[in-house]
Formats: sequence, C-alpha cells, structure tokens
Amino acid sequence: MENKILQAAQVIKDSKYAVAFTGAGISVESGIPPFRGPEGLWNKYDPIVLDVNYFYANTLESWKVIRELFYDFFGKAKPNSAHQVLAYLENTGIIKSIITQNIDNLHQEAGSKTVYEFHGTAHTMICLKCGQKYQSPDISLSKLPPKCKECNGVLKPDFIFFGEGIPEYAHNKSFEEAEKSDVFIVIGTTGEVMPASMLPHTAHQNGAIIIEINPEESLFTNNITKIHLKGKAGEILTEIKKQIEEL
Ligand code: APR
Repeated sequence: MENKILQAAQVIKDSKYAVAFTGAGISVESGIPPFRGPEGLWNKYDPIVLDVNYFYANTLESWKVIRELFYDFFGKAKPNSAHQVLAYLENTGIIKSIITQNIDNLHQEAGSKTVYEFHGTAHTMICLKCGQKYQSPDISLSKLPPKCKECNGVLKPDFIFFGEGIPEYAHNKSFEEAEKSDVFIVIGTTGEVMPASMLPHTAHQNGAIIIEINPEESLFTNNITKIHLKGKAGEILTEIKKQIEEL
C-alpha cells in the first residue's frame, strides 16, 4: 500500500488540474453513517421519505425523518482529517475544486472554498410559499414542519430529493470541472447514483487519471480507477499529505 500512496501523491503533486469528487464515505469518520453498506441508513429508513412527491403528500412524516437523519445529529458533526487535507490541498493550489454529493457542509467548515454541492445542502432551507431562504441553524425544528417567519409557509431543506433535478449551476460547473481535470480523486462513494456517478466517467473520457479512496470496491474500481487506495479517507489522505510534503 505504501508505494501506491507514494504513486498517488506523485500523480496529485504533478497534476495541472486535480479535482476531488466526494460521497458519504468521506463523512463516516465524522460520525455520519453512509447510505449504503452494512451500517447504511437505507437499511434502517425507507428512501421514500426523501422522494419529492412523498414529501409534498406527507410533509410532517417526511420532516420527522429528515430531522432525525440530517439535523438531530448531523448538525453536530465536525469535519474530519479527510476534509481538512482536501482544504489544505486546495490552499496549496494542488486541488482546484471539490464536487460533493454530500449535504453536510463539512467541506466548507473545513475551509474548502470551491465546493460544488451536486445534491444541494441541508445547511439552508427555502419557503415553499414565498421563496424566502433561511440558514438551517437559525430554524427551530421543535415544531414540525418548520414554518416561514415571513408568510408561515412550509420550509423545505435545500437538498435534492429523489425525483428532483440537480441544481443547474452545480450540475454545469461539476461537469465542466470533470472535463478540465487531469487527475480526478474519487473519495467514499459507491457510484450507484446517477447523474453524479457520470462525473468520474466524464473525467476519465477526457484523459484524467482516476484515483479512488474507499475501503471497499465501488462501481468505478474495476472499471475506470487507475489507483485504488483501499482504506479510510481520513487515514489515506493524511498519508498522502505527508508524502506530498516530502516530495
Ligand atoms: N472512507 C472512505 N470511504 C468510505 C468510508 C471511509 N471511512 N466508509 C465507507 N466508505 C465508502 C463505502 O465503501 C461506500 O462505497 O463510502 C461509500 C458510501 O456509499 P453511499 O452510502 O452509497 O454514499 P454515496 O455514494 O455518496 O451515495 C450517493 O445516494 O442516497 C443518495 O443522495 C444520496 O448523495 C447520496 C447518493
């Protein structure tokens, strides 16, 4: 594994336009369970609660699970060393941007500046009636569904529900970044959800070297991944940072 980490560190250091693509796995070491796999959230909850039609038809029921899944605990999760190393690599000009499928805002909290949230964010909410935007920490969830302070309309989190389209800006910028990248670092994602899972393929088609960090294999591993670093994101990225500093 050591020489694979050294190989990955060399490729990342020599890159002209390295981009990181992250999934739920990068936040596992912050205490946030992934969606799939042995401890996956979808083993305990029915994904229907995040279906947009279910949300509109069963707003209170959906909000009860949303609060439990994304606000009761997640709100307290802190960035782990994986988020911090990516912020450091952006700071030193090695990584140009992060495309994340996550809605936990942990990249931004770790100091990353150029972050494209492909599935939106739980960090803000919008009123379905008047469109007023709120920072989630400013909204009490003691009474559900949360209401707009301006017009008493129902608030909806700004993340993408199943059945909703990808935010246009994040979608376009993410594919642009994938096309521009010469190194695309895929961290903590099964690659099971479209269209997000198209991004590594777009990078690969444009000649990017795919480096993957994941303790398991994903749909990318035996397909487009050139270097698979089998392990936890926090540990592996900390090692990569050390190697890059010694190069
Ligand atoms: N470090 C790196 N990867 C990890 C770690 C870790 N410590 N722990 C688990 N993983 C890997 C798992 O092996 C798995 O491949 O993270 C991945 C988590 O997969 P998913 O839970 O499917 O997460 P993701 O691929 O991001 O899901 C995509 O599905 O439910 C929707 O919108 C949701 O954005 C999410 C999308």
